[in-house]
Amino acid sequence: MISQSLRDARKYEETMEQKIGKEERPGFHLAARVGWMNDPNGFSRYDGEYHLFYQYHPYDSHWGPMHWGHAVSKDLLHWEYRPAALAPDTEYDRDGCFSGSAVTLPDGRQLLMYTGVSRQMQPDGSVRDVQVQCAAAGDGTDYEKCAQNPVLTEKDLPEGGSRFDFRDPKLWQKPDGTYGCVVGNCTADGDGRVLLYHSPDGMHWNFKGVLAANNRRFGRMWECPDFFLLDGKAVLLVSPQDMLPQGFEYHNGNGTLCLIGSYDEAAETFAEEHHQAVDYGIDFYAPQTVLAPDGRRIMIGWMQNWDTCNLHTPDQPWFGQMSLPRELSVKDGRLYQKPVRELERLRTGQVRYENVTFSDLLRLDGVNGRRVDMELFIRPADAEHSYRKFAVRFAQNDSYQTSVSFRPYESIVKVDRKFSGSRRALIHQRRCLVNSAGGALKLRIILDQFSAEIFVNDGEHVLTVTMYTESAAEGISFYADGDVTMDVVKYELNA
Ligand code: FRU
Repeated sequence: MISQSLRDARKYEETMEQKIGKEERPGFHLAARVGWMNDPNGFSRYDGEYHLFYQYHPYDSHWGPMHWGHAVSKDLLHWEYRPAALAPDTEYDRDGCFSGSAVTLPDGRQLLMYTGVSRQMQPDGSVRDVQVQCAAAGDGTDYEKCAQNPVLTEKDLPEGGSRFDFRDPKLWQKPDGTYGCVVGNCTADGDGRVLLYHSPDGMHWNFKGVLAANNRRFGRMWECPDFFLLDGKAVLLVSPQDMLPQGFEYHNGNGTLCLIGSYDEAAETFAEEHHQAVDYGIDFYAPQTVLAPDGRRIMIGWMQNWDTCNLHTPDQPWFGQMSLPRELSVKDGRLYQKPVRELERLRTGQVRYENVTFSDLLRLDGVNGRRVDMELFIRPADAEHSYRKFAVRFAQNDSYQTSVSFRPYESIVKVDRKFSGSRRALIHQRRCLVNSAGGALKLRIILDQFSAEIFVNDGEHVLTVTMYTESAAEGISFYADGDVTMDVVKYELNA
């Protein structure tokens, strides 16, 4: 049974999306069908396709009562919208269907597990949002909320767990057919942790233990956990709120933390070995991963930042995009990210330059555009005397530009969108400490209409920023202070 609220949302999105021209949208990044989008949800394979749901408020380009939007894709780059999947329409989720995930049940239905939010009067008279986990099953388009709901409530919390911060279940199916699930939580005094649950059928869940605890190291509440094995290691992704910066890590307040360690299957314990930020730019949060049929672990994140996402005008018909899907790997205790290889199928019009040496401003014929995949390899022209600074500027015309620069003496890559068209005092720059031997650096820059994703040294560091620059600004230029030698391979990306 489809509720009236869901029917209304579906009708609304179908009508309103027609008012948004193709050119007003990103070329190959998923954006809200209409209205507001935040976290990726239910990133999964079902019926031969990738399914991606998202936190969705169709009626406004600002956050509001959360629905689940829905899109499907064969190649992770061309997305087709399906009707909204969930609306806040029952007692236990009347104030929002928050983030969650998806798996396939043995009977062929797709199971969604999500957080139901309801505002409730507390014994002390205050009104608080109570969070429980809920299930819905369906056929890839229509989903029915399960009669057993909610399937996890405060009684499933370990001692001291907050029922106001208990959200974002991420499910997986185990080789024996049973299910595992991690959920974000915090203690009563606001310290984040990840809880582990098991279920024989996806409906009945048992608490297994605290998989990881913050112990006041990384922010406060831990949102949107994801847990998987990769390259012989166990990886826990989690998005802590309110982090303090540590050196060059965690500069966004709310950002995504990657913990790499080992998992003891029998004891069900995770031993942390390394930690790092997942993205060193400005706009990346709450990622979720899927296991592709060929074994790749693919991650997609919300390409926004909670501190800067409320400054757009209300008349904007959509707000919020997903990042590029990225292939993950672990090498020497570090998470690496690469754009999914499917992106290479969108490449056209190769332009290539080798061994270009320059020491000032440089423009290269054929190097421009706003939907671009560009690889740069830069190094000092003279190994004895390094250059002082290299920069590439894009989304550029007389008024605008966004830039990525590198100073080899500091080993710092900086992204700067100050001149991208922003009229607000929001964060425009981010600096990232990278590895460079003798001033050599590899950059791969993926530009779409409203974003730049910068992969440094084959994905050892990634910086993601949105830029809402007018589309006429499609220049690309280079700058060197000192003598730089550069190879460039540039493609148009045609979705
Ligand atoms: C993370 C988050 C989640 C929550 C959702 C609500 O961005 O705060 O914890 O489920 O967004 O929209």
